[in-house]
Amino acid sequence: MKLLGILGLVALSECIVIIPLMKMSTMQKTLKGKNLMNSFLEEHAYSLSQNSANDQKFSTHPLRNLKDMFYFGNISIGTPPKQFSVLFDTGSSDLWVSSVFCHDPGCSKHRLFNPRGSTTFQMTDRHMHFCNELGDITGFFGRDIVRIGDLVIMNQTFALTYRQISKILPFVPFEGVLGLGYPSLATSRIIPVFDSLMLQKVISEPVFAFYLNNKEKNGSVVMLGGVDHSYYKGELNWVPVSKSLYWQITVDRISVNGKVIGCSSRCQAILDTGTAFVHGPTRLITNIQRLVRARPYHGCQYLISCHVHTTIPPIIFTINGIDYPMHPEDYIVTSTCNLCFSAFLGGTEKVTKSETWILGDAFLRRYFSVFDRGNHRIGLAPAV
Ligand SMILES: *[C@@H]1O[C@H](CO)[C@@H](O)[C@H](O)[C@H]1NC(C)=O
Ligand SMILES: *[C@@H]1O[C@H](CO)[C@@H](O)[C@H](O)[C@H]1NC(C)=O
Ligand SMILES: *[C@@H]1O[C@H](CO)[C@@H](O)[C@H](O)[C@H]1NC(C)=O
Repeated sequence: MKLLGILGLVALSECIVIIPLMKMSTMQKTLKGKNLMNSFLEEHAYSLSQNSANDQKFSTHPLRNLKDMFYFGNISIGTPPKQFSVLFDTGSSDLWVSSVFCHDPGCSKHRLFNPRGSTTFQMTDRHMHFCNELGDITGFFGRDIVRIGDLVIMNQTFALTYRQISKILPFVPFEGVLGLGYPSLATSRIIPVFDSLMLQKVISEPVFAFYLNNKEKNGSVVMLGGVDHSYYKGELNWVPVSKSLYWQITVDRISVNGKVIGCSSRCQAILDTGTAFVHGPTRLITNIQRLVRARPYHGCQYLISCHVHTTIPPIIFTINGIDYPMHPEDYIVTSTCNLCFSAFLGGTEKVTKSETWILGDAFLRRYFSVFDRGNHRIGLAPAV
């Protein structure tokens, strides 16, 4: 059975829930030494923060939420600036957008970058190719000015795609990805956007942060160069990055009602804004589905009652000594035809032999996250 194909149903057929396994296959490719994909933001940025004093170079950018699965925002590229909408993805490290050289359905409904339309564009001889959940994407790299709100990056290398074989891209309102992973995850020797922001001193501090809201409540943001502390409650708890490729950390254990149900001798987790749900080894996920009383539905998806919020338990991730519960409202995914699905999904054993979890948007909506490149650590605190 191919888990991967299901994502194509993002096509928005209302009663089918979409299982984005994007980062799993991305990870697979990366482990095989292939390249990845990526992307970034926009105009109309505004600074909300009481922390962003005038001498601080810090920006808070709005993100749009598509069905609690994709968080994307505007950036612009070139001279004059042309606007694109890109997925802000901590699980990859390149920036790419669709270009006028692409004639696939995955490009046709999108804004396309035309290098001839930018007086500051420079060509390179580098190519990008990756094949993952998002599709089979090929492009070449160029350099140009990239703007994310009021942050301006000179000479940013990004890929212009000319082939996008994808079951998803024809149906989503973004035309690229902006990766915020470590440079080691980028196409070889390409400097990622966040590294350019640091190197060119466009931002004050080498940190970025995500506040991801539910689809009912817009207001999701990415902060670049600082943290607006009004988006979380209490203190940030810091966790060291265990491997600087993805934003990867060590988890102490996963438990339900005091019983350890996963990660029994510690394990790894990747915090990935580009993955919608929470993935783990299928064997352990199957056990969790039983504990939350979810039942199999069409292969790898699990149906769960929409009205059991008080009777099914939280799943607790203990990280660096602190408990991070995921409550039923965090892991019950509603669809439009009165069906609900479990946000726990298997499959990571296909990608890596060691026990690895991917904590995607379902986790990151509950926990505000700070990604600190300066200290190689991740800060987590309950989101407001
Ligand atoms: C992106 O820009 C368009 C206008 O060009 C605007 O309508 C949209 O709300 C912006 N998206 C976000 C997430 O701010
Ligand atoms: C632009 O960036 C490339 C590599 O990223 C570098 O080789 C080149 O010197 C840069 N050009 C300018 C004008 O900074
Ligand atoms: C945000 O949500 C509110 C209420 O749900 C709505 O009135 C408003 O138009 C939304 N704004 C945007 C930019 O979508």
